This record gives sequence, C-alpha cells and structure tokens, in this order.
Amino acid sequence: MQAFWNEKFQTNHFIYGEAPNNFIKENSDLLLQAKKVLCLGEGEGRNAIFLADKGLEVEALDASDVALFKLRKRAKEHYVFIKIRHTLLEYWQPDTLYDSVICTYLHLAKPYQKMLFEKSVEALAPQGYFIAEFFSESQIHFESGGPKDLTFLYDVNDILDTVTNLSCKILKLAQEVVTLNEGDKHIGRASVIRIILQKTA
Ligand SMILES: C[S@@+](CC[C@H](N)C(=O)[O-])C[C@H]1O[C@@H](n2cnc3c(N)ncnc32)[C@H](O)[C@@H]1O
Repeated sequence: MQAFWNEKFQTNHFIYGEAPNNFIKENSDLLLQAKKVLCLGEGEGRNAIFLADKGLEVEALDASDVALFKLRKRAKEHYVFIKIRHTLLEYWQPDTLYDSVICTYLHLAKPYQKMLFEKSVEALAPQGYFIAEFFSESQIHFESGGPKDLTFLYDVNDILDTVTNLSCKILKLAQEVVTLNEGDKHIGRASVIRIILQKTA
C-alpha cells in the first residue's frame, strides 16, 4: 500500500493540486474557531498548508513518506510548521485531543472504514468537528478519479450505522454529485460523501 502511494506521489507536481479541497475550504470557519487540527491521510498537504497558513496548529498523518516529504518542503516555503506523523492509520492510536479532525479521500478497505470514524471521534475534544469527503460507491460509474474497486469506496448507510453509535452529533451526512478540479487526478463530475460530525462528550 505504501509503495502504491509512493509511486503515485513520485513526481514534481502536486497530483491533487495545491488548493485545499472545496468542502474543507467551505467549512473552514468551523475549523478556525479553535486551534489544533489533525489531517488524516493528508498526502502532499494541500489542506494542511491552507489551515496552517490561517494560523492553526496542524498535524498531518499519512502512510507515504514521498507525499510527506513534499508536504514538509512546501510547509517550509510557506514559513509554517506542520507536525508530521508517518504511519498507517491502522497503527495510530489517538494520544491527544484535537479541536478538529479532517480527512479527504482516504481510500480505506471496508474493514478499516469503521475504524477511521471511531478513531477520529475518539481523537476529538468535546465540541470538536470531524469534517471529511470520500468517494461514494457510485463513483465506480464516474471517470473523475478514485479507486475502481468497491472495497475502497464508501456507503452512506454504513457510515450512518457507524457514527450513530459514536459520541457525536451528525451535522451533515450526504451523498452528492460535485464537480472536482483537483490536480490531474480528480477532474470532473464525481459522487462523493460529505460528512460533518461534532463531538458531544
Ligand atoms: C487519494 S490520496 C488523498 C490525499 C489527500 N487527503 C488529498 O486529498 O489531497 C490518499 C492518501 O491516503 C494515504 N493513505 C492511504 N491509506 C492509508 C492508511 N491506511 N494510513 C495512512 N494513510 C493512508 C495515501 O498515502 C495518500 O496520501
């Protein structure tokens, strides 16, 4: 898996672009209410850099050292510090609380998707936000990017089942068709799931 992602990121350009994901940008007011944000599966750092530029204390977790090298270099160019965790999400155990956790297009296999929501909510401070965007299973019918394997796509009802049992309010959970323009890997109409949770306790 790490080799797969390292190979994709082994290029001079930013494969998902340098601008933040639109859904993260649109909801950045929620993130800016507090200080400390964790970006899961953050890759080359487009969201992390955007949030660090806005003065947040940012931590980025990813399995790809190639992506994280690019993130670190770009952070230096922006004169911002981003704490880096080079690990698989499967090995990560939240050891501190964050005001927000964000995640865009972290393609996990079905058995690990539940773990992503559980660990993210566990890592949130009370009232903290989890904001994320994933490709839905319907993305299999689109040619705008993402895995061509249902195992790595998300089902909105599975997410609902999981998050209903967590200590959080569901502020948004919707499957939408949007137009992506993210680097050269996410281009065109796409079926995504957008989610905002708020930790309750
Ligand atoms: C499609 S890219 C998205 C990168 C970034 N979130 C963005 O939107 O630009 C998926 C990212 O998830 C990371 N990743 C995939 N599986 C992972 C895992 N099990 N643990 C940690 N990172 C993982 C990859 O290394 C890659 O950076």
